[in-house]
Amino acid sequence: MSAKIKIGVLGAGSMGSGIAQVAAQSGHEVVLTDKSLTQLDSARGNLDRTLQKLVEKQKMSAEESQAVSDRILCSTSMADFEDCGLVIEAIVENLEVKKKVFSDLEKICRAECVLATNTSSLSVSSIAAGCENSGRVIGIHFFNPAPLMPLVEIIPAVQTSAEVLSQSKSLIDSWNKITVVAKDTPGFIVNRVARPFYGEALRIYEEGVADFATIDWAMTEFGGFKMGPFTLMDYIGNDVNYAVTDSVFTAFYFDPRYKPSLTQKRHSDAGWYGRKTGRGYYDYSTDKMPEPNRDKVLGEKIFFRILVMLINEAVDAVFLNIASPKDIDLSMTKGVNYPKGLLQWANEIGPGKVLAQLDQLADEYREDRYRASALLRRMAAAGQSFEFK
Ligand SMILES: NC(=O)c1ccc[n+]([C@@H]2O[C@H](COP(=O)([O-])OP(=O)(O)OC[C@H]3O[C@@H](n4cnc5c(N)ncnc54)[C@H](O)[C@@H]3O)[C@@H](O)[C@H]2O)c1
Repeated sequence: MSAKIKIGVLGAGSMGSGIAQVAAQSGHEVVLTDKSLTQLDSARGNLDRTLQKLVEKQKMSAEESQAVSDRILCSTSMADFEDCGLVIEAIVENLEVKKKVFSDLEKICRAECVLATNTSSLSVSSIAAGCENSGRVIGIHFFNPAPLMPLVEIIPAVQTSAEVLSQSKSLIDSWNKITVVAKDTPGFIVNRVARPFYGEALRIYEEGVADFATIDWAMTEFGGFKMGPFTLMDYIGNDVNYAVTDSVFTAFYFDPRYKPSLTQKRHSDAGWYGRKTGRGYYDYSTDKMPEPNRDKVLGEKIFFRILVMLINEAVDAVFLNIASPKDIDLSMTKGVNYPKGLLQWANEIGPGKVLAQLDQLADEYREDRYRASALLRRMAAAGQSFEFK
């Protein structure tokens, strides 16, 4: 891949238009296509408004903003991808639709064109299986909003060639993004390791230990998280967050560690998605938010229970070679704004103390949900800490 290849983006929804903006701002000619002309028109309008705002905030000159806009060609025809060096797909999250589209792309694009998917939950290897030359297919997973979020997960399918992996990583690095390489497993890094932030918070609520406001307070007050789990779920949308949890749970052959919560399901069933519907765990039609119970002992207990579950997920991701310790910590700080990398946190607390809390939960509940990673047990026994090379 040469440095200034033409970039194709398929799907002009929230992700596709953001990715097109990032590529054009990095100096590439971009072809943005969508099957819907209305969607393309709306994407063009949104892009131009965003670029205008950057000019107003003096983050970009008027000439540069015009040049970025001019570099993006909107089209309803995938045939315009013919001379692209990389095509990133960001259409509906449906395996059969994506496989068909990749098979079509293969017929249009040059042999050396890399074909990437922005899927957040599907297997990249399954998508690649739709192509005859599956070695040129890779996952390039941006976070929302793509122009603002620094992290990009690069996910080689089992079929992806080493050359396509290194070319794709270097290219996205050159777009001023922080790239991490993840194994093609459910949730990749961020959507796997972050599950207990939501799941354990919901479980604590279901047990009647504390209400939403108190759990949120505990995580911001004692953990330094920017948002508590319920505020964040309301922000993401309970429908979206539940769907991700459900898909990760199913894809892990129903491992109880990832079991979805009935509380979240009922909120989703009721249409209480969160901010976008005016009601989620909190009621946004009023300015008056419920007050937490600011009991320090309770707050610290809640925080530590959720934190050890998060650390256990991060450690298990290292154990199963999903990514390196450095990339796992980078993912959580740059992809979801955690105040500290979870493995760094484990080092500071001490793996032995984290293990003791997990074992206490496992003893009490006798549920596989609380099983400690074998690596955490080994590290605690050997008195080791994580290294970030
Ligand atoms: N929204 C997020 O937070 C987020 C974050 C990371 C990754 N993703 C992934 O990115 C992809 C797109 O998500 P989104 O939120 O931008 O979706 P979206 O619904 O906003 O946009 C999808 C676009 O694809 C178009 N489309 C659908 N089928 C098509 C086809 N066959 N050919 C051409 N265009 C087609 C639709 O018209 C629509 O404009 C999904 O795979 C999703 O899992 C989403």
